[in-house]
Amino acid sequence: MRVKELIEFGTKYLKETSEIPNKEARILLAHLLKKDLLWLVTHDMDELTCKEEYVKLLERRGQHEPIEYITNKASFYGEDFYVDERVLIPRPETEILINKVILTCKDIKAPHIVEIGCGSGIISIMLSKLLEDAKVIALDISKDAIEVAKINAQALHVKQNLEFIQSDLLSNLKLEKFDILVSNPPYIADDEPLHVGLSYEPDLALFGGSVGDEILKRIIDAFIARDIKVLACEMGYDQRDKITNYLKQYELEAEFYKDLAGIDRGFIIKKGA
Ligand SMILES: C[S@@+](CC[C@H](N)C(=O)[O-])C[C@H]1O[C@@H](n2cnc3c(N)ncnc32)[C@H](O)[C@@H]1O
Repeated sequence: MRVKELIEFGTKYLKETSEIPNKEARILLAHLLKKDLLWLVTHDMDELTCKEEYVKLLERRGQHEPIEYITNKASFYGEDFYVDERVLIPRPETEILINKVILTCKDIKAPHIVEIGCGSGIISIMLSKLLEDAKVIALDISKDAIEVAKINAQALHVKQNLEFIQSDLLSNLKLEKFDILVSNPPYIADDEPLHVGLSYEPDLALFGGSVGDEILKRIIDAFIARDIKVLACEMGYDQRDKITNYLKQYELEAEFYKDLAGIDRGFIIKKGA
């Protein structure tokens, strides 16, 4: 079949699964051929013999496997990150969390930053790249996630100012003093019904406990117990009141922020503010 016929075939195949079937059909074919999307345009009349392998990729996508796991690639903050089923697929709203941390760091010389739950490494890696004088420590309870994050750190040439440690929250972190603790933790309730595509992502990255906010609260406790000035966290759309109430015992208030859809998405807490 010709390139353009394969794309038409793929587009039809993905109509039920995808909101952007033509784009995904092209991405999967380009991935299979190890070419870019432009190549498909300039070679649309080429005859190919890869239909069988292409159908295998379409079948995976047809069963709602996220395209990022099929291509092992996710775009985030203008960079390509390697991803597989060991880590959460980066979400665009997490770019806002990174921007909040950068803003907080603007008056801090050589900020010390620690991240809980680095997953694929997107947050720590971008902060290491964008804040060249920062020292960043990325933690995750999952050894698998740390392996993926290290692949990304190497591919994106981040080494000197970034260290990875396997740790349950801050338990394996020796240093006490940090300027900022950042986290996009799991915050979905264990029994929340999820879209079928999410079933491919690791449970450890999604579920925060029977209510959903348990890990968030443990992160707040860990922040209080250490000499850390600022906590910047992503959270679920319905967790604002729960966080506000939880902070009362510490006589602290959070500054909440919304995502681009106007939905509550995270908060910043500053000690002594
Ligand atoms: C929602 S994912 C976020 C991954 C990545 N930071 C991102 O924004 O895409 C949460 C991460 O927290 C990790 N995690 C879950 N429980 C943890 C714990 N108790 N201590 C440290 N990391 C934990 C998971 O393994 C997962 O990689």
